[in-house]
Amino acid sequence: MIVDSLGRQFSNLRLSLTAACNYACTYCVPDGKRLQAADAELEADEMIKITRLLMAAGGINKLRITGGEPLLSPKFDEVLPAVMKLGLSDVSVTSNGQLIPRKANLILDSGLKRINISLDTLDADKFRSIARSGDLATVLKGIDLLQAGGLKIKVNMVPMRGKNEDQILPLLEYCLDRDIELRFIELMNMGHLQHSALHTTQLFAMQDILDLIATRYEFVRADAPIDSTAARFHIPQRGHFGVIANESEPFCRTCTRLRVSSNGLLYGCLSNAKSYNLREVLHLPEALALAKVQQVLNSALRDKQTVSFRGEVTVMKFIGG
Ligand code: GTP
Ligand code: 5AD
Repeated sequence: MIVDSLGRQFSNLRLSLTAACNYACTYCVPDGKRLQAADAELEADEMIKITRLLMAAGGINKLRITGGEPLLSPKFDEVLPAVMKLGLSDVSVTSNGQLIPRKANLILDSGLKRINISLDTLDADKFRSIARSGDLATVLKGIDLLQAGGLKIKVNMVPMRGKNEDQILPLLEYCLDRDIELRFIELMNMGHLQHSALHTTQLFAMQDILDLIATRYEFVRADAPIDSTAARFHIPQRGHFGVIANESEPFCRTCTRLRVSSNGLLYGCLSNAKSYNLREVLHLPEALALAKVQQVLNSALRDKQTVSFRGEVTVMKFIGG
């Protein structure tokens, strides 16, 4: 087993299918830019093989399919059903929801049990001003379709001062009514926002969120898995919500995540641009490939931060939330 001095190990792989995205959310993409596919993205079978090698060499037992926007890639249709058969203890997807109506049957047929959908507002105009593309009604329809098919849904919202903090209570109400766990994600100090005035003025932090929710609901802190990104809260008789407090309550000390970008680069930490190219192991004989992957995992674990989330300029937009 590969464990570091803080007792951390990798168990949770986040695999980005493509760096391309059909949105250009203000917190992720600088004005005037679009997220494009990376040069030389891996093929679906290569991604499946990498997942299998990481399971065998490093004890990975949870997988999250991310992007960019993973549903945008034709590889999604091949990768999802295949990874569902690998014997992972948990498979999930993070999506902006725009293509879910088109992919709902494929998702339901794959046997996927849960999905996290990004949704920052229930107001169609605000939706367009934050996502700078897409359409709110399509996302809501996608949520309904997957819920009707039995999937457990979490919604991720990034509250931003002056942009959508007035959507916190409406979104919470929407999610509580549907037994969806809403997670508020503190605006992360990374990518083009790193050290920017925009981050300082727009950050709507955990305490601000909790104070606002307290004007309408009583809630208590609830249990969360040790390596959870979210601090969880319970509103008696109504349900749970979470806050992913990257800035106020970082979780680096218990982080079990490892990331593989769409072009086969492995990252041990969201705040560290150091990467390892896995493409090289794809053509090695199995035993050699496993030994090489173990070596990479040992090094990548040392790239994790010890204390607080520091942010990094380039990483997030390539390897997804
Ligand atoms: P589950 O709780 O298992 O559903 O997964 P999750 O919280 O990892 O899933 P999701 O993809 O919905 O991530 C939510 C947000 O958590 C992301 O958009 C990021 O803002 C943040 N996040 C995810 N991974 C990391 C990480 O390694 N470090 C930090 N600091 N934040 C992360
Ligand atoms: N701050 C917070 N969340 C971010 N995401 C991307 N960039 C940021 C940022 N700067 C996350 C959002 C979205 C997910 C796909 O990526 O939570 O839901």
